[in-house]
Amino acid sequence: MHDYMAERVKKEVYLNKYQPEEPSREIKQLIDEAKKAALNAYAPYSNFQVGAALLLDDGKIITGNNQENACYPTGLCAERVAFFSAKSQYPDSKILRVAIVAKRSVDDFFKLATPCGSCRQAMSEYENNQNQNIAVYLADADGTVFESESIDNLLPFKFSDKDLKS
Ligand code: THU
Repeated sequence: MHDYMAERVKKEVYLNKYQPEEPSREIKQLIDEAKKAALNAYAPYSNFQVGAALLLDDGKIITGNNQENACYPTGLCAERVAFFSAKSQYPDSKILRVAIVAKRSVDDFFKLATPCGSCRQAMSEYENNQNQNIAVYLADADGTVFESESIDNLLPFKFSDKDLKS
């Protein structure tokens, strides 16, 4: 049994909040790449466009967007498209940061969206495996940026390879 099942344990999620002018040029660039990717999303069913941009440890930026399907569950979120693309092409690279943005097709502005549970689980796998945190950046419509210092922070009491071991 997990320790946390033996007693009541509380975990809190912390996000750092940056005013629009505060994030570094590198963070702003990653957010811009995520925005460009979102505009190419294939989202004819939800009309909700999501973009993700990853920074690898060699400086490469890999992007992804949501890819929908007439058979709805077959589609995939932007974050997983980006992570799977990065790790399939560059299996030995570490992922340092991910920027995630979203917009409704009818709007001409991006809005804050946090990654879904399945994407948190998928991203967590790579964070565990590389033994280095992946920072997450979420941009709001007014340019405010929220930072999570790790995927782990967004997925309290996560399931991982440790659970598969005795
Ligand atoms: N979506 C993402 O791409 N990432 C998320 O974390 C949440 C949702 C996509 C899936 C679907 O294409 C659309 O947004 C509406 O749910």
